[in-house]
Amino acid sequence: MVRAVAILSLAVVMSEVTCANSAGVKGDFEYGQYLAAECVTCHSTVGLDKGIPAIIGWEEASFISVINAYKSKELENPAMQTIAGRLDDEQIASLALYFASLPEEN
Ligand code: HEC
Repeated sequence: MVRAVAILSLAVVMSEVTCANSAGVKGDFEYGQYLAAECVTCHSTVGLDKGIPAIIGWEEASFISVINAYKSKELENPAMQTIAGRLDDEQIASLALYFASLPEEN
């Protein structure tokens, strides 16, 4: 009985964590591809880093947390702060989905 309760509360904790990661918003691939037009003026789509880091092939959750860190100004790059500041959760999730799908071809 005690065990069942423990498993149940673990399940609740886990579903909250999943929600927090994705902010409860699902990305849309084509929307992400559309929004990425702005990003790829600076970021390579084939994973090259010419002074600007490559952002393809990332875990979606990591991508989302980095963009949110620019948005909240925890990460300091002013260009990325401005860009991230304009994105809502759906747009961030869509960009994460799109960039995660691009193959690394270094
Ligand atoms: C004006 C050029 C420019 C544009 C446009 C731009 N970025 Fe960036 N981005 C940068 C630079 C420069 C950095 C590295 C900043 C730093 O060192 O913190 C960066 C960093 C990042 C990082 C973190 C990379 C890492 O390895 O830490 C992510 C993720 C990212 N950008 C995503 C995006 C997305 C998504 C878009 C489009 C919505 C975008 N960027 C548009 C210049 C740009």
